[in-house]
Amino acid sequence: MKRRLLSMLLAAALTATVFAGCGREGTTDSSSAGSSTDTAAEADSDSGSDDSSAAADAGSGEGFEEGATIGISLPWLGTQNWKEAETMFTEELTAAGYTPLVQAADNKVPQQQQQIESMIQNGAKVIVVGPIDGTQLGAVLEEAKDAGVYVIGYDRLIENTEAVDGVVQFGSVRTGELQGQALLDGLKANKGDGPYNIELFGGGPADPNAPNFFTGAMSVLQPEIDAGNLVVVSGQTDFTQCATEDWDNKKAQSRMDSLLAGNYSDKEIDGVLSPNDGIARAIITSCEDAGQPIPVVTGLDAENESVSWVWEGKQYCTVAKPTQDLVAKTIEIINSLQAGNGMPTTDVTADNGKKEVNIYELDPVVVTKDNAKEVFADDEERMALLQ
Ligand code: BGC
Repeated sequence: MKRRLLSMLLAAALTATVFAGCGREGTTDSSSAGSSTDTAAEADSDSGSDDSSAAADAGSGEGFEEGATIGISLPWLGTQNWKEAETMFTEELTAAGYTPLVQAADNKVPQQQQQIESMIQNGAKVIVVGPIDGTQLGAVLEEAKDAGVYVIGYDRLIENTEAVDGVVQFGSVRTGELQGQALLDGLKANKGDGPYNIELFGGGPADPNAPNFFTGAMSVLQPEIDAGNLVVVSGQTDFTQCATEDWDNKKAQSRMDSLLAGNYSDKEIDGVLSPNDGIARAIITSCEDAGQPIPVVTGLDAENESVSWVWEGKQYCTVAKPTQDLVAKTIEIINSLQAGNGMPTTDVTADNGKKEVNIYELDPVVVTKDNAKEVFADDEERMALLQ
């Protein structure tokens, strides 16, 4: 009861802050949310946050009606994977008979909190969240739980709250390990004998994936740095020095410009660890502008533009984590919840600071020019880029 009161107060405070911040008119007006891409048909509004009858703890087995509203809260649409998620969730949830309410938050935490709030008000039975900041959604997600809503993390861990039933994602440390190993392999294959001059980039520090990608990569690279086979010429090897605020490609490009100007006037750069494809292209562009030969650069997402660059030999590799598979897995879980079967079992868990969260983990795959046709054999759009 106390917790409920607290969460109502928090929700009221949150709503007030959000509205003060963005001048919105009302939580149920989902079209008002900035770059929102609301695709819901009229959502039912009769099951707001004061309906505490439908306890939705993982495995409770309480189902819900077939045409139910499913909220999808995406962090932004700045990389291809999130745009794909927006389209696929809209189409595939509709095809499965649900009423999708899909919104993206333009990398602004209060906007995402407001969008989730509005999904609760609209009676969503499940809310799927790719958090901008893994730690900033506790209050609104606790409100969702109190209203009987299932909460599923999508692609990124939801941290520091018990209000999450599970997370669907590609192994994030594993992704980093693949990136680190691919950088080493690419250097050996393309840059003669070492030692090799390299630089390191990380993703947005608020995104829980970003430090995990970096940790995974460093587990492969650090021993080679210690052995003198890799030289980080700038000396910048901490995640905090290498991170790219908000996954902003422009910021990565200016950091690369500075690294080259400050450290490489008399040297060539051989390789760069990049956490995703957008940042990889920014790094490569910076090297071209500085008159450097193109280094071996890693990536992530198999974005169309980078798949073309990999095929042309301009970007060494990317890592594929197909959105289609992530969306399909998420909808499989939603179907289980709808049918009253609760959250499926899984062997993988992650400590989110408050609890061991069930993780539904998929395997990412490195893509180089050598295996691209194999990896994308069933992906018409990307196959078309490999000519
Ligand atoms: C996702 C990546 C994406 C990045 C920036 C990460 O959490 O896993 O696929 O490139 O966010 O949007």
